[in-house]
Amino acid sequence: MAMWGGRFAIDTDREMTEFSESISFDKRLYKYDIQGSKAHATMLAAQGIIPTETAEQIAVELDKIEQSIEQGDFTFTAKLEDIHMHIESALIDVMGDEGARLHSGRSRNDQVALDIRLYLRSEIAVIDELLKSFQTALTEQADKNDTTILPGFTHLQHAQPVLFAHHLLAYVEMFQRDRERLSGCAKRINVMPLGAGALAGTTLPLDREFVCQQLGFNALTRNSMDAVADRDFAIELLSDLAIFAMHVSRLSEDIILWCSQEFDFIELDDAFCTGSSLMPQKKNPDIAELSRGKTARIYGDLMALLTLCKGLPLTYNRDLQEDKEPIFDAIDTVKKILRVFPPMVATMNAKTEKMLAAASDPALMATDLAEKLVELKVPFRNAHHRIGAFVKWCDENDKALNAVTLEEMQLTIPEATAEFLTMFDPQGSIARRELFGATGFKAVRAQIDFWQKKLEE
Ligand code: ARG
Repeated sequence: MAMWGGRFAIDTDREMTEFSESISFDKRLYKYDIQGSKAHATMLAAQGIIPTETAEQIAVELDKIEQSIEQGDFTFTAKLEDIHMHIESALIDVMGDEGARLHSGRSRNDQVALDIRLYLRSEIAVIDELLKSFQTALTEQADKNDTTILPGFTHLQHAQPVLFAHHLLAYVEMFQRDRERLSGCAKRINVMPLGAGALAGTTLPLDREFVCQQLGFNALTRNSMDAVADRDFAIELLSDLAIFAMHVSRLSEDIILWCSQEFDFIELDDAFCTGSSLMPQKKNPDIAELSRGKTARIYGDLMALLTLCKGLPLTYNRDLQEDKEPIFDAIDTVKKILRVFPPMVATMNAKTEKMLAAASDPALMATDLAEKLVELKVPFRNAHHRIGAFVKWCDENDKALNAVTLEEMQLTIPEATAEFLTMFDPQGSIARRELFGATGFKAVRAQIDFWQKKLEE
């Protein structure tokens, strides 16, 4: 008979047992479940709800259970449904009635809320560290390439020359915001739900503050119904992970393009690519492709969780058991990406000459000419028009923008001076952009220095 079997006449149907179990996936919460139970038992004793010796023995036995799970000799069975009942039942197996005192003033509803919060808190710390390593790998590449120039793109068309370092640091910025989002989310996760009971709190004189402190939480949940019903903290986390995945997916796309034969801007280290089983010459950017692909499942996890919660009446509903797989999947997937992507970025090789050649089309400096005219007090719209006419003239006369004489240039840009003819090299274009946040050599160097310092903290 199940642990809750008092009011039941017969055993659960076998298919029902299989259908109902969550142990196959929630067993990974064992550590947090035990951590929570130990704090709960200590508090129960301090409040005189259970004997002190019982609480002490519970702690000892829970440690043993933890060990036996870690060593792989703990028996899991669908009959015991979930990790909470497995651990409690193992405790009662060794302690009898004294073990049966542990669950006083507690429900699996607040227990599972606690376990998930403890689990997510610890996973966020791991993910944050990995994200930081990712930023470090990108910053090191930026540092190595602080004068490497490539074309910057808009609409996937050559737009203006930029520093490769500037392009890489754009992702460092995105990952910084991802980290900030995670740390905001961690604050809302770090709230202690025990004491909510099934939904209405408990008649027993629990000391919630004590448990809160023991477990290192920042605050208590203020509403017991909210505490057992709500999963918005997990939805928020998965949103944050989905945004991160979207960022990785964009970087993946950049990398995939950069190693295509058409771009040929970088070479990835062999250790992070695979070949084709048929075409001997192939070397494919699998990590980037798979990360782009795995982004889809992280979005799926987020959608599953949002949909799971949308129609639920307060408070706990068994549907909520379905929260775990998407949560675990999103976290596992993000961690997998974060373990392979940074080393791939750290070891990739920029083909600096190829990049520079692509950025050396004089047409990429057209904006520089227009802005030069603005300096000469030509209104920008008129300047834009004059340069447009100049580009058209060059096109019709089959000349590169930098292959005209001053007289030819003045046909469309009457204000042009000899200086205009010298403005077509990409280095010059970069050097003219020393505005804070722009792609100038010094501006980007300052950003590299900023990140190196920040990431060392
Ligand atoms: N396995 C359940 C879950 O993950 C634990 C809570 C069960 N509560 C209940 N009243 N059946 O949600």
